Amino acid sequence: MEVAIKPVCTLRGDVQVPGDKSMSHRAVMLGALADGETEIENFLFGEDCQSTIHVVQSLGVEVHIEKGRVVVRGGGFNALREPEDVLDAGNSGTTIRLMAGILSGCPFFSVLTGDTSLRSRPMQRVIKPLAAMGARITARSGNAYAPMAITGGGLCAITYRSPVASAQVKSAVLLAGLFADGQTTVIEPVRSRDHTERLLSYFGARVEVEDKQVSVWGRPKLRGCKVVVPGDISSAVFFLVAGAAVPGADLLVRNVGINPTRAGALEVLMEMGADIYIINERQVSGEPVADIRVRGSRLKGTTISGAIIPYLIDELPALAVAASMAEGVTVVRDAAELRFKETDRITAIVKLLSHMGVDITEQEDGFVIRGGRHALQGVECDSYGDHRMAMAAAVAGLKARGITKIKSAECVKISFPAFFDTLNSLSVQ
Ligand code: S3P
Repeated sequence: MEVAIKPVCTLRGDVQVPGDKSMSHRAVMLGALADGETEIENFLFGEDCQSTIHVVQSLGVEVHIEKGRVVVRGGGFNALREPEDVLDAGNSGTTIRLMAGILSGCPFFSVLTGDTSLRSRPMQRVIKPLAAMGARITARSGNAYAPMAITGGGLCAITYRSPVASAQVKSAVLLAGLFADGQTTVIEPVRSRDHTERLLSYFGARVEVEDKQVSVWGRPKLRGCKVVVPGDISSAVFFLVAGAAVPGADLLVRNVGINPTRAGALEVLMEMGADIYIINERQVSGEPVADIRVRGSRLKGTTISGAIIPYLIDELPALAVAASMAEGVTVVRDAAELRFKETDRITAIVKLLSHMGVDITEQEDGFVIRGGRHALQGVECDSYGDHRMAMAAAVAGLKARGITKIKSAECVKISFPAFFDTLNSLSVQ
């Protein structure tokens, strides 16, 4: 599918973004391990989270959709059954890596795989600690890539010092730790998003967090419960950037998760001079949530590096677009992890924005943008099958000269199926 984006005069209105992707995955997984019924409200019905539902169903867990809610009927840790076929995680890194943790604890054979993009993403980072806990795992290319074959069971608790700040790695080890006796600990170089820790506590597990160190105690009794998923800040960010960069814009993005380990983009946009107000802060299912108002203003360049990077890693394609429209230099460093996402997002961002006429230089672990020099140029571009690149291109197109055509734009279905309709409904031509 090709989508054409016309430049807008301005943007006005209220926006509801879909449920948080990271939380939707975790709610289904913990629901599957809990005893009793888990009801998930505002679940993200995107392709990635549907992959998690299918994988969990293939393990014998009942999952239904009732009146727009997902209902998981878990039977505890011992209720999962050996799947009859290969488990397909589709495009979803969270599905494959977190499920690898759960399957490592299960005393049966399973194979996890995914689409072409997922089969080129690194799996050694989860295989190594899970094998250290006692799971027998083999994977393609010397244990580098999926498909991964797992024979689980008989795990020992470990303390794992992760070389990467990755919530997927941390969560895989913590979820495996649920099946081991005693205390499993993960220590990260920089703290990553903490939804697994929060949701584990919410379901009744014993979890302790101290700075960059998280511990979970094995064999807890998890109770099925009601989880209300906040709106996804990683989807909201496209409207926050559009609202901040388009003159005269005024948007209210409702019900956005503002967990501090996810909300780095808000800090950076404010630092860039964006006119952003956080209102109506509240707690929902153990997570902070708010409404966010954004109005068009003059943006200026900034530096994005260090410990904040994991708190905005998925928002960097959108922030790069903001930087292109800002006056002055924006430097992004310490973000080499972007190369291991749905596509190599450093190369993809540099290709997209340089094609649109932006002065951008690629670095090994980021990029440098000299923004505000000239207006962006509408072009024909590719999403590289990456949902966040498709949405970033669309936001760039709102302020470009001429039409921006995005090829393979259907990939927005991964995290935000109604993205283009939502954008159209806000556009004032
Ligand atoms: C996620 C963790 C991050 C993020 C991804 C979702 C999660 O990946 O980029 O979109 O739900 O745990 P890494 O763990 O690879 O950093």
